[in-house]
Amino acid sequence: MGFAVTVRQFDAPLDVEMGDTILQTALNSGRQYPHGCQSGNCGACKSRLYAGEVEMSPYSEFALTDAEKDSGLILACRSVPWSDCEVAYLEQDEVVAHPLRQLICTVRELDRMTHDIVRVRLSIEAGGPFDFTAGQYAEVSFGDLPPRDYSMANRPGDELLEFHIRHISDGSVSAYANTKLKVGDTVKVGGPHGISYYRAKHTGPIVALAGGSGLAPIKSIVEEALSQGARQMIYMYFGVRDTRDLYLEDHFADLVARHPNLSFTPVLSEPSGETPHRTGYLADVVAADFAPAPGLDGAKIYLAGPPIMVETCVERVRERGTGDEDCHADAFYTEADKVKLEATS
Ligand SMILES: Cc1cc2nc3c(=O)[nH]c(=O)nc-3n(C[C@H](O)[C@H](O)[C@H](O)COP(=O)(O)OP(=O)(O)OC[C@H]3O[C@@H](n4cnc5c(N)ncnc54)[C@H](O)[C@@H]3O)c2cc1C
Ligand code: FES
Repeated sequence: MGFAVTVRQFDAPLDVEMGDTILQTALNSGRQYPHGCQSGNCGACKSRLYAGEVEMSPYSEFALTDAEKDSGLILACRSVPWSDCEVAYLEQDEVVAHPLRQLICTVRELDRMTHDIVRVRLSIEAGGPFDFTAGQYAEVSFGDLPPRDYSMANRPGDELLEFHIRHISDGSVSAYANTKLKVGDTVKVGGPHGISYYRAKHTGPIVALAGGSGLAPIKSIVEEALSQGARQMIYMYFGVRDTRDLYLEDHFADLVARHPNLSFTPVLSEPSGETPHRTGYLADVVAADFAPAPGLDGAKIYLAGPPIMVETCVERVRERGTGDEDCHADAFYTEADKVKLEATS
């Protein structure tokens, strides 16, 4: 026994079994439904419930705010129907629809960027071409380890795929990438995924906020904007703990020298000594640099990095007038975050 769920973008209703979610049923039936984490963390599957009842298992406030829920939005990956329903997923302002690919790649370059971040560059051997939009991510598999999400740091169309992988304490895949991966190894890459991609039609200011290895997608977005000739101001911030966590400073200094519309501001939250850089939490520094609402009204905000940094920055830019539709964030949730959420179910 199940329920009929009409998805306005589909030509026929979904038959959702008791206890199954709308998203899983849609994906199992071979339909395209926007999604990312599938665990209530990212907000990519946000949908409007037009009729019927669903029960939602726990999700993060970052993925769906209380105000959004009260206005009739749901997360399809957490929603189990309790009656026949009618829903529609939220359309993105600039739709990208790249074919999903399963690539076989070879490690061409490995560079230590900081004490805990390795840059992995891959050539595509089979399964390409790999089209994506700057800011998207892929599922990356090393050896027999389970796949993990990593964001592309290169620009679309570059010859090598580039990933920045931070060694997480107790992390299995990130430890492997940082300590065991070798040039010449085979790596599987599936994707692209994600909706926090560069919106090329937007002409207002851009605020690009990276925390740690969150620099990867932000680098891709900023470089893509510049290469497409974006004329608006691009305010880029790079939040890390201490000087030893900064990387690619020279690269961005060079870009700033060549592009008067780009600024690059490193921010250290726990400096161990004197520093020429701004200090404090990234969210506070950004809040100090932009006037209260409507200060950031009309700007696009791109954010990526640790969940706590992303969540606090989203809060502060919303206070400064950024609408939800202009805030494109990828919080780097780990398995631990997913399990924490499940535990509250
Ligand atoms: C959209 C997206 C994009 C991302 N992009 C990047 C990127 O560009 N660069 C980057 O460095 N990271 C990125 N990440 C994070 C990345 O996907 C991995 O989560 C991260 O590398 C850790 O993987 P791991 O296998 O090393 O750690 P895991 O083995 O998954 O462990 C992570 C933590 O979870 C705990 N844990 C593991 N399994 C369980 C369990 N079953 N129960 C309880 N606790 C558990 C571990 O003890 C550890 O503390 C991204 C994440 C997302 C969602
Ligand atoms: S796919 Fe539903 S919140 Fe991420």
